[in-house]
This record gives sequence, C-alpha cells and structure tokens, in this order.
Amino acid sequence: MEKKNKILNIEEIQTYYGVSHVIQGLSMHVEKQEAVSILGRNGVGKTTTLRSIMGLTPPRSGNIYINGARTTKWQPHKISKMGVAYVPAERHIFPGLSVEENLMMAARPGNGNDAWTLEKVCDHFPVLAERTKQDGSTLSGGEQQMLAIGRALISNPEIIIMDEPSQGLSPLLVQMITDVVLKFCIKSGITMLIVEQNYRMALKVASRHYLMGTKGEIVKVASTKELVDNPDIIQSHLSV
Ligand SMILES: Nc1ncnc2c1ncn2[C@@H]1O[C@H](COP(=O)(O)OP(=O)(O)OP(=O)(O)O)[C@@H](O)[C@H]1O
Ligand SMILES: [Mg+2]
Repeated sequence: MEKKNKILNIEEIQTYYGVSHVIQGLSMHVEKQEAVSILGRNGVGKTTTLRSIMGLTPPRSGNIYINGARTTKWQPHKISKMGVAYVPAERHIFPGLSVEENLMMAARPGNGNDAWTLEKVCDHFPVLAERTKQDGSTLSGGEQQMLAIGRALISNPEIIIMDEPSQGLSPLLVQMITDVVLKFCIKSGITMLIVEQNYRMALKVASRHYLMGTKGEIVKVASTKELVDNPDIIQSHLSV
C-alpha cells in the first residue's frame, strides 16, 4: 500500500535512451510540502530522472507513484493534470507568444483565495507585469526563468519539479530566483523537487538531498544540516 503523505514515490526505476541504460535502479520519495534536491555530477541522470517522472522518457521498469496513483507509463499531459508542474532547464518559453499568453496557456483553477491567477503573478513578478505583451522568447535569461516559474505557479500545482533554475544566471539573479522559490513556492506549501548544480542554492531551498551516483542511483540521502556540517560529503560527490 502507498503511504498517503508521499506525494511522489519512485521505486527502482530503470530508464534508457535506446540501448543506453542511464538510470539503473533509482528509488526516492518526496513527502507532501517537503523541498527535496537531487545533486550529482554532470551527465549522471538528474534530468533523465525528472523526464521519467514527467512521462517524457518513461522508465522501462520500476514504479512511479504520484499521490498514490501509479503513473509510470502515463502520458505527460495526464501527469501534469495530477498537479505536477515541470520547469525544464531550457525553460521552454513559447516563441511567438506574449508573456501573458505563455502564462495563460498553463493556467488552471486553484483552490480558495490563495490561487495563482494572471493578476497575482503580475502582482508578485513586477518584471513580468512590465512585459505582458512582449514576446516571451525575447526576454532575458533571468526574465525567462521568472516566466517559467510564474507559468508553473499559475497551474496551481501540488508539486513543482525544477531542473537547474540557476543555470546560466548571474549571482544576483540566482539570489532573486532563490528568493522567489522560497517565498512563493516553499513557504506557501507547494512541494518541491529541485535539481541543482549550484549546491549552495540547493542547500538554501531544500531540506533533504539525494546524492546521485554515476549509474543514476542514489548513493546517499542527507539533511541540509548534515551537508552543511560535513562539506566533505558534497565535495567528494560533486567535485570531478
Ligand atoms: N536524448 C538522449 N539520447 C541519448 N542519450 C541521452 C539523451 N539525453 C541524455 N542522454 C544521456 O544520458 C545521460 C544522463 O543525462 P542527463 O541529462 O539526465 O544528465 P544530468 O545529470 O541532468 O546532467 P547535467 O548536469 O549535465 O544536466 C548522459 O550520459 C547523456 O548523454
Ligand atoms: Mg541535466
């Protein structure tokens, strides 16, 4: 039986690209309202793990449960409908669509007064409010990341899955994105699964961390406190 408080539960998945066996037996879980990170060197399979969860590269075997439902071989649109928002590393802003249209494509009704609407996104992201009619693909990298996060929020998800939100951004923008993730996602009760190369950011936003080995397997699970108290753990896993 699935435990109810596990919003995401992954059991022993095996994911391939053709004959290339990338994820060789990965198990992990995320509890409701938890913020969890996956840390690992380049190319170990972090993005592939997120693609497996989203149904974009489904695992060949093993199980993925979202809120107790076995979603392992489901189509991506059905998985999003379970309340899962995916913010890919490339951000996937639709060219030819304005900022507002990019947001509205993802909009889904939420519960109660706290629900994210176009108005609420504009109130909370002044950078987007000033540019609602601008083509989304002409935004700067940092603005596009804000739009990608706004687009996740406006779908009023239960869980947001983010792939390297800090990628390619200046330290100041990384700080801004970190603040946005903390304030609008984590403190407002949205569950988070975040992949980050920038482990300083991961330590700021997540409370539990999965360290991924070279076969896409989990070699260690640690709390933020354990990693802060023992920086050697991160060094030995992430340095080349
Ligand atoms: N579409 C694909 N076809 C074939 N191999 C792929 C494909 N996408 C990724 N891979 C391979 O799968 C492995 C894992 O890639 P993945 O993108 O999941 O790594 P990652 O941990 O996210 O790396 P990074 O930190 O660089 O983003 C790599 O060896 C990569 O070359
Ligand atoms: Mg990646």
